Amino acid sequence: MRKIVGWGTMALTIFLASCKEESSKTILLSPNGQNEIQFILTENATPSYRVRHGENMVIDTSTMGFSFKDQPPLQQGLAVSNIRTSQVDETWEMPWGEQREVRNHFNEMVVSLEETKAPGRKMNIHFKAYDDGVAFRYEFLEQQDRDSITIMDEHTAFQLTGDHTTWWIPGDWDLYEHLYNTSKVSEIDARSKQNHPDLATTYIPENAVNTPVTLRTDNGLHLVLHEANLTDYAGMTLKVDNENLTLTSELVGSDRLGHKVKKSLPAKTPWRTLQIAERAGDLIESRLVENLNEPNVLGDVSWFTPMKYVGIWWEMHLGLSTWDLEGTQDMNTFATLGKEQTSSVHGATTENTKKYIDFAAENGFGGVLVEGWNTGWDHWIGFEDREGVFDFVTPYADYDLEEVNRYAKEKGVEIIMHHETSAAPRTYEQQMEAAYALMQKYGMHSVKSGYVGPIIPKGEYHHGQWMVNHYRKAVETAAKYQVAVNAHEPIKATGLRRTYPNIISREGLRGQEFNAWATDGGNPPEHLPIVAFTRMLSGPIDFTPGVFEMDLPSKPNNQINTTLAQQLALYVVIYGPVQMAADLPENYEGHPALQFIRDVGVDWEQTKVLDGAVGDFVTIARKERDTGNWFVGSITDENPREIRLDFDFLEADKTYRAVLYKDAPDAHYKENPEAISIERFIIKKGDSQTVQLAPGGGFAMSLLVE
Ligand code: NOJ
Ligand code: CA
Repeated sequence: MRKIVGWGTMALTIFLASCKEESSKTILLSPNGQNEIQFILTENATPSYRVRHGENMVIDTSTMGFSFKDQPPLQQGLAVSNIRTSQVDETWEMPWGEQREVRNHFNEMVVSLEETKAPGRKMNIHFKAYDDGVAFRYEFLEQQDRDSITIMDEHTAFQLTGDHTTWWIPGDWDLYEHLYNTSKVSEIDARSKQNHPDLATTYIPENAVNTPVTLRTDNGLHLVLHEANLTDYAGMTLKVDNENLTLTSELVGSDRLGHKVKKSLPAKTPWRTLQIAERAGDLIESRLVENLNEPNVLGDVSWFTPMKYVGIWWEMHLGLSTWDLEGTQDMNTFATLGKEQTSSVHGATTENTKKYIDFAAENGFGGVLVEGWNTGWDHWIGFEDREGVFDFVTPYADYDLEEVNRYAKEKGVEIIMHHETSAAPRTYEQQMEAAYALMQKYGMHSVKSGYVGPIIPKGEYHHGQWMVNHYRKAVETAAKYQVAVNAHEPIKATGLRRTYPNIISREGLRGQEFNAWATDGGNPPEHLPIVAFTRMLSGPIDFTPGVFEMDLPSKPNNQINTTLAQQLALYVVIYGPVQMAADLPENYEGHPALQFIRDVGVDWEQTKVLDGAVGDFVTIARKERDTGNWFVGSITDENPREIRLDFDFLEADKTYRAVLYKDAPDAHYKENPEAISIERFIIKKGDSQTVQLAPGGGFAMSLLVE
């Protein structure tokens, strides 16, 4: 259904206007005219742009440019040689996702630039204006004397027009697992977040933030800066100028290679994206980032089915069992990096896996994740030389790979593979084909991968170009074997799931695991009401919700900082086509709230964000594909809240059997987190209800079509 309405001068007169005062200013408007991006050549013929939303200038004159290793910067002395415009209105389908149909509707302008003096290099800047934001990318054209460029940095500025409230994590080159900070732009101090005792690795060379970064202006407009289609390029952080309120691209580098990016010509950068929304919830409903990626190149991907899963996982994080065979590598060693503990037992045994398979089968969960099944864990964390350590085809002696897969199949469950690379990607690449072929042999269609620790070789970082290419290689190789990837310690999501639907989910945030062992008290209640409006805007999350035993008896200094009702709500609030029921089977056994995890969908026809405020609360309704059942989830920060629910989103001619799982009147994330009350009633379109949320609480509701 792709409809391109005109290229060239005709379209130019429709939505491109020139302004007399600034002779070289061109304007691109979004289809509804609300968002406007202007291209300008400023002083010394420097390419620059501005962005408006309605009457408001949201990005003031901001310069663009690059510096290179062995040629002069491309930043000034440019002239416009051509401008092309087009309009696109198309609809595409997500094989699984937050919604089935996605409308991709934008106006586009390609500005061709050429240096007026030698060497006369050429660059195109592609601009797209959508009703939910704007984006641009650079395209380097062929140069006479070279076939590649080596970029030392990209200088794309975002000149803010006020000291906005910002929700940010530091521009760490290695890890996104920081808590979000809320501050004015003028107060961002990212470097103070270096050396977090609970983080396996951090490197924050500048006062920069990672993306997506969310800002709110004084008059309530939301802005989100991120990138789309990060391909063969370095991840972008944004360097903060606290005084001038400017953010400027700062690419993640390679100390080993001494540059930021090397690319063959012609070359395109990722899209630099700016989501613009008056209502916070519209940020979550926006598909701008996916729209800026190419269509599916894998074709039929029906070999993967969205699923809920359980796994041999939480028990290791709780210190009840270990990844390694000898029982020496538990989460206490993880937290203190190297201290030996020898009290535990190996988790990934054939017998224990069968227990989880039985539990999954009884409850209709599709997958069982098994971590610690393969050799190498005895040389995991704290070891300098991790090259050649992990083996992705050899199980430990007490894990019968063939038998667990046979048993799982018999029970209608699939084993989820686990590949902890320990950030030694070359070792992983050597074994990749064999590892995915082994999975295919046993009919395993998804892998959780991991990259804990500093990257080997030294001088490379998780978010640099070299690793971006490694993560892509894993996804492309996996696809050949019908394997879908859920990477932990990943590169950030940039909408590539549109092109490679086997990128199913990822971590890339401070997940539930921190609640089990972080020394700083775990994730505070405001964490997820921020995540929903920051990290979640980039793509699906493997957060691993669903913990029912909140006081973590084996971890006296840790607890979960939400109520149990909020743990249920997360299945709706946080999107991912694989959703874990993270707790131990014995903590679910006989609990009435387990019914919600059994019922809740994982694949959606439609998503509606009913209400929300960044960092405070969010309420989301999602309609399950095929069944037509709706599920609603709402979460709050440390403040109690009353949520009014208007059931206008339901279909008119249907009756729904509602089950509401809400905080009991005396629930509190700290003192009484497990207090839940469950109510049943009938709901129709037009009905309304109010629900009380406890501090750190939430509610989950199933609306099952009668
Ligand atoms: C960190 C991951 O986030 C966690 O889920 C996993 O259990 C460990 N690494 C071991 O791979
Ligand atoms: Ca992690």
